[in-house]
Amino acid sequence: MRRYLRVVVLCVACGFCSLLYAFSQLAVSLEEGAGGGGGKPQAAVASWLAGGGRGAVRGAGVAGPAAHPGVSDRCKDFSLCYWNPYWMLPSDVCGMNCFWEAAFRYSLKIQPVEKMHLAVVACGERLEETMTMLKSAIIFSIKPLQFHIFAEDQLHHSFKGRLDNWSFLQTFNYTLYPITFPSENAAEWKKLFKPCASQRLFLPLILKEVDSLLYVDTDILFLRPVDDIWSLLKKFNSTQIAAMAPEHEEPRIGWYNRFARHPYYGKTGVNSGVMLMNMTRMRRKYFKNDMTTVRLQWGDILMPLLKKYKLNITWGDQDLLNIVFFHNPESLFVFPCQWNYRPDHCIYGSNCQEAEEEGIFILHGNRGVYHDDKQPAFRAVYEALRNCSFEDDNIRSLLKPLELELQKTVHTYCGKIYKIFIKQLAKSVRDRYARSPKEK
Ligand SMILES: *[C@@H]1O[C@H](CO)[C@@H](O)[C@H](O)[C@H]1NC(C)=O
Ligand SMILES: *[C@@H]1O[C@H](CO)[C@@H](O)[C@H](O)[C@H]1NC(C)=O
Ligand SMILES: *[C@@H]1O[C@H](CO)[C@@H](O)[C@H](O)[C@H]1NC(C)=O
Ligand SMILES: *[C@@H]1O[C@H](CO)[C@@H](O)[C@H](O)[C@H]1NC(C)=O
Ligand SMILES: *[C@@H]1O[C@H](CO)[C@@H](O)[C@H](O)[C@H]1NC(C)=O
Ligand SMILES: *[C@@H]1O[C@H](CO)[C@@H](O)[C@H](O)[C@H]1NC(C)=O
Repeated sequence: MRRYLRVVVLCVACGFCSLLYAFSQLAVSLEEGAGGGGGKPQAAVASWLAGGGRGAVRGAGVAGPAAHPGVSDRCKDFSLCYWNPYWMLPSDVCGMNCFWEAAFRYSLKIQPVEKMHLAVVACGERLEETMTMLKSAIIFSIKPLQFHIFAEDQLHHSFKGRLDNWSFLQTFNYTLYPITFPSENAAEWKKLFKPCASQRLFLPLILKEVDSLLYVDTDILFLRPVDDIWSLLKKFNSTQIAAMAPEHEEPRIGWYNRFARHPYYGKTGVNSGVMLMNMTRMRRKYFKNDMTTVRLQWGDILMPLLKKYKLNITWGDQDLLNIVFFHNPESLFVFPCQWNYRPDHCIYGSNCQEAEEEGIFILHGNRGVYHDDKQPAFRAVYEALRNCSFEDDNIRSLLKPLELELQKTVHTYCGKIYKIFIKQLAKSVRDRYARSPKEK
C-alpha cells in the first residue's frame, strides 16, 4: 500500500516538473522571438505579459543566466519572484530564470546541510594517531564534519596548531575540550577510574546540544566516507539508541564469553571503539538495570554501575556499556564487523565474512598494531594515510605503494587477505576523485 502511494506521489511530482519545464521553454522561446537578435536594449522582452514595457530590459536571445550577465542584474528583489509563475511577474522582474533560482534558494533554506558530529578522547601519546584518524575522516567524507576533541591539557596546543593548518579545507570545524566530568561527582569519577577511559561515557551529558554523535577511538581509520556510517542512524528502529559491532565473530576466541565476570551483550559482547549514538534518545531513555527495581536515566546509572562492578571489569568503559546493553538489548543496533575491523578478525585466520566480501570500511588498529611490527598489514595502511596530504594527486597515488607494502605482509594471516584492506579504500579514492571537480 505504502509503495503505491510513493509511486503516485512520484508521478504527480514528475508531472508538475514537466509542466514547469514546458512553461520555461515557452517563456524562453517567446523572449527569443521578441528579442529578434538585436543588440539594442529590448523593451519588448517582458512586455508581452505586463503590457507596458516598464523598464529597459536587456535580454536578446536569453538562453540562461550564465550567457547573459545582464539578466542577473534584474534579479534584485527575490521576494518579488518567489513562487510567482512567470506570467504573473511584473516586467522589471527577471522572470523564469529568477523563478528557478528563487526556488532553488528556497529549497536550500529549508534543508540546512546536516553536520556529522565526531568525538574522540585523546590522552598520552595519541596526537599523531588522532590526527591521522581525523585526516581519514576529512579526506573521504561528503557532508561537513564537526569534531569534538577531548584531550589532556598539554595536548591542546598541538591539536590547535595542526587543525588550524587544515582550516583552508572548510569542510570541518572542531572544538577542543578538557577531560571533564559532570560536576556533581567529578572527583569521585577521577578517583575511581582512569579519567580518559571513562570520559566518553559522559558525552551525552556534556554535549547537551548535540543530537547524534559518532564516537571513535584514536586508533580508527576511515576507509570510506563518515557519511555512510552516519546514515545508519536513520535505520534505527524506535527503541534503538546506539550502534556498535560485536567484539568477536568467533566465540571460540571471544574474550567476554570465556573470561568476563560481569554480564555482556549477546554471544560475544560488543566493541565500543566505533559507537554511533542518538544522544537525544540516550538522554531520554530510562534504562533497566540490576541495581534497583526502578529504571534509571543515563546520568544516574553510571555511578552505581561502576560501584557495583569496579572489581570485576577489565576493559573499563566498554564493559560498562556491555552491562547496560545486556539489560536493554532492544536499544542496541548491531552493525557488521567491517565497520570496526580489528586484528582479532584475521590474526588467527579470517572470520569477518562481510569484510571478505565488501572490503574493510573502518579499520581499528587496537593493541597498538599501528606502532609495532606484530600486524604489518594494519601498520601499512596507517602509515600510508599518515604520510598522505590533502592534494588529489597525493591521495590517488597512495594506493600503489600501499599495495606493494601490503604484498610484503603475506606471511601473516592478516596479510594473506591484504586485498580486503584496499578494496573499499580504492573505491573511496575513485569516488572522491569523481566528486572533486564539482566542489572546486
Ligand atoms: C602548517 O603547514 C605549513 C606548510 O605546510 C608547515 O610549514 C607548518 O609547520 C605547519 N604548522 C603546523 C603547526 O603543523
Ligand atoms: C565553521 O564555523 C565557522 C564559524 O563558526 C562557519 O563560518 C563555518 O561555516 C563552519 N564550517 C563548517 C564546515 O561547518
Ligand atoms: C534521534 O532521535 C530523536 C528522537 O527520537 C529524533 O528526533 C532524531 O531525528 C534522531 N536523530 C537522527 C540523526 O536520526
Ligand atoms: C565479580 O566476580 C566474582 C567472581 O567471579 C563473582 O562471584 C561476583 O558475583 C562478581 N560481581 C558481580 C557484581 O557480578
Ligand atoms: C528494534 O530492534 C531490536 C534489535 O533487532 C529489537 O530487539 C527491538 O525489539 C526492535 N524494536 C522495535 C520497536 O521493533
Ligand atoms: C611514510 O613516511 C615515512 C617517513 O617519512 C617513511 O619512512 C615511510 O616509508 C612512509 N610510508 C609509506 C607507506 O609511504
